[in-house]
Amino acid sequence: MVSLLELTLQLSRASDMVSPELNHHQRLVAYITFNLGEELNFDEKKLNEVSVAAILHDIGGLSMQERINVLKFEAINPHQHARIGWLLLKDYREFAEIARIIKFHHVDWNKGEGLRFCGETVMLESHLIHLADRIATLISRGEKIINQKDQVFEKIVSASGQKFNPDFVKAFEQLKEKEYFWYDLESISNGRRYYKKINFKDQCLDMDELIGIAKLYARVIDFRSNFTAVHSEGVSAVAKRLAQHLSCDGLTCKKIQAAGYIHDIGKLSVPSEILEKPTSLTHEEFALMKQHTYHTFVLLHQVQGLEEINEYASMHHERLDGTGYPFKLTGKELSLGARIMAVADIFTAVTENRPYRKGMQKDEVIMVLKNMALDGKIDTRIVETLITFYQDINKARIKAQKKARTRYDDFAKLLV
Ligand SMILES: [Fe+2]
Ligand SMILES: [Fe+2]
Ligand SMILES: [Fe+2]
Repeated sequence: MVSLLELTLQLSRASDMVSPELNHHQRLVAYITFNLGEELNFDEKKLNEVSVAAILHDIGGLSMQERINVLKFEAINPHQHARIGWLLLKDYREFAEIARIIKFHHVDWNKGEGLRFCGETVMLESHLIHLADRIATLISRGEKIINQKDQVFEKIVSASGQKFNPDFVKAFEQLKEKEYFWYDLESISNGRRYYKKINFKDQCLDMDELIGIAKLYARVIDFRSNFTAVHSEGVSAVAKRLAQHLSCDGLTCKKIQAAGYIHDIGKLSVPSEILEKPTSLTHEEFALMKQHTYHTFVLLHQVQGLEEINEYASMHHERLDGTGYPFKLTGKELSLGARIMAVADIFTAVTENRPYRKGMQKDEVIMVLKNMALDGKIDTRIVETLITFYQDINKARIKAQKKARTRYDDFAKLLV
């Protein structure tokens, strides 16, 4: 059993890691939202939904620049990332309501007219996140946060009624007198422990539910770049088929499938500007890119019950001869699941079509994999299994990626 909340927090954390300038932004906003919601006597369900929405509110900021841009108090065109966030999350049943809150989190109150936007109803929860978000962006890192409280409050009050719901501003007026609130903000932005924990409601996921959310994550991870828009779906399908052909038990196959979906979650910390760079990467950019499996490991390591899945997911760039990264593990230290993931990742990367090149054909793929196995980098038995069942495995990849591509194309169409 795995906690949905823990997984959600890791997704939030991963996306805030894309730049140090973000400074735990979504965490801060969730904390402020929760405290304001309590001040406003939101009931438990509403408080929970708005807090979860806050922790993911900027998930649709696909590029680093976009994430940084909306940190300015007067953000330009802030609705795009809010809409993308909604698009990414809306089809997952557990997040449908949350997605609706996120969709309009930058709509101004506009003397109450902001209860509608582009012909749709805007929830009060969206307006609460809007206020919390702007409070967070007004806080600067240079000075003790409690010393900024009057200045922050004045700026907020001056936009009451225009940008913000006046009742929510009143709640902030009461909240700002509580010192702990500012001390907690300081602690959160320094990554330290703090006083008031957000009282999130949690839910335990069984294996099939976990696969469902891992698949949603694959979308959040992959859709940041057209280049790799369907990569994780492919890796997951290939890894699962390989595991089945290698006679792994049913539960292990499911774990491997889930690991395939989230093996690149650490890539959320890599700016999409680098993921999509048309020319070759500089030394520094490559170093950033390479760090993604390390981040995958550290993020997933914090979720109880995910130990094996993490082991399969995070080692996909390790090599049997110890020349991979980031842990420099060798053959005897790499589990079967990890070895499968390495082969599935390479196979998918070389066979999938990318906007700038066509995928490799069978003969060439077999040569690449055989050579790597001969060099002692990847597992010979797994490569042989892949060759034996080539058609079946490749078909599974194509099918999964085709479906994902259709979803991505629909998604991309809605962006314009
Ligand atoms: Fe935002
Ligand atoms: Fe934000
Ligand atoms: Fe990777």
